Amino acid sequence: MAFPKDFVWGAATASYQVEGAAFEDGKGQGIWDVFCKRPGAVWQNHSGDVACDHYHRYVEDVEIMKKIGLKAYRMEMSWPRVMPDGVGNVNRKGIDFYDKLFDELLKADIEPWVTLYHWNLPQALQEKGGWQSPESSKWFSEYTALVVNKFSDRVTKWMTINEPQVIIMHGLLTGLHAPGFKLGMAEALAAGHNLLLAHGRAVSAVRQNAKREVSVGYAPVGWIRRPATNDQCDIDAARKASFEIDPTTLWNSAWWMDPVFFGKYPDQGLEAFGSIAPRVSAGDMEIISLPLDFLGVNIYTASAVKAGEDGKPELVPYKVGYQMNTYDWPVVPDVVYWAGKFFHERYNKPLVITENGTAVAEIIARDGGVHDPQRSEFIAKHLIEVDRAIQEGVPYKGYFYWSLLDNFEWNCGYKHRFGLVYVDFETGERIVKDSAVFYGDVINGKIGLG
Ligand code: BGC
Repeated sequence: MAFPKDFVWGAATASYQVEGAAFEDGKGQGIWDVFCKRPGAVWQNHSGDVACDHYHRYVEDVEIMKKIGLKAYRMEMSWPRVMPDGVGNVNRKGIDFYDKLFDELLKADIEPWVTLYHWNLPQALQEKGGWQSPESSKWFSEYTALVVNKFSDRVTKWMTINEPQVIIMHGLLTGLHAPGFKLGMAEALAAGHNLLLAHGRAVSAVRQNAKREVSVGYAPVGWIRRPATNDQCDIDAARKASFEIDPTTLWNSAWWMDPVFFGKYPDQGLEAFGSIAPRVSAGDMEIISLPLDFLGVNIYTASAVKAGEDGKPELVPYKVGYQMNTYDWPVVPDVVYWAGKFFHERYNKPLVITENGTAVAEIIARDGGVHDPQRSEFIAKHLIEVDRAIQEGVPYKGYFYWSLLDNFEWNCGYKHRFGLVYVDFETGERIVKDSAVFYGDVINGKIGLG
């Protein structure tokens, strides 16, 4: 195994998915608090009102992380908990919560990696237009400046925005996520541009307010196509397809990453969107492309392509009976290998897998344990591919399993369990799954992956 000594081993969560305490201690409402109250918006009308009750159980959760052997914890600070109106007023009790959580983590030798935005937009800002407002990037930079100023004595790893693709695609186009809008592509692209500006202004706010040396990254979906075979022509087709933009969807990588690393939207994307491409004002791209320390990528699955007759990438359907998670997402471990290769070649930045994980249908066994060999195998197979990429020069610096805890899985409520730790959502009881022990043993070198 080629994992460097300083490789970061962690697990991840997001505030609305785990914290609960939705109406406590001065927290403002977020767009998910409101969306979940809309009948039928979420599976079985679940909500994150209580979720994993992490807000009250964080001490126990940090103990569990320590017991597993995690070295890092990727988490989001809840914007509406810290700034109930999104801007202006600061909620002292919200600040206190994160103060205590960071201290607890550091006491356990677990490094906090903080995501500034994992979809928990204050409702007050949604009412002012949300990401559709040209002011939104300034709101986000005010929030970022506040928390970085307050916590960068202890937190040195910051990520701006989690999965801009999903924020815009599901929040504003399909309506599956909060705020649940079904706008047209032109409006979605304009909001996407504001979101990219928010990313850039946050990068600047982190650097300007940091009390210590910090690392700043971004955590988009690491969307790629993988080659159906190892033939060079299929690899080339997959690489090409990985950075192409289909104007009927926002599932792609180049639209969301090229502006950040190259300071421009990809030409092929601009051509494909044509007259509905967003207006770029003078100076925007300078803000959006401020230098980053790492590219975080959330990687779960990918479709396969081959070179078609005319050399064009052609989708290759998965075989009947393919391996999948409870969402039906194909389990294809080499996706992390190819993603590493393609993103390294194109952007040449240190890479961190900010999310990778699986949901399986598990039951509590007669002995009271949760035995989840599918998840252990998933982790092992993906880490073997991360290792293969590192051996071939891909600068993977860390891996965060999604998720630490079973949690509120957005519009699917509590249907899918991604956690290393089982959560009983009635009682709050936690059960450390077998896969958590397995992952801990890998981290601590007790078992190899061969
Ligand atoms: C998101 C997580 C989510 C996970 C599984 C990612 O898209 O960042 O919040 O729970 O995938 O669906």
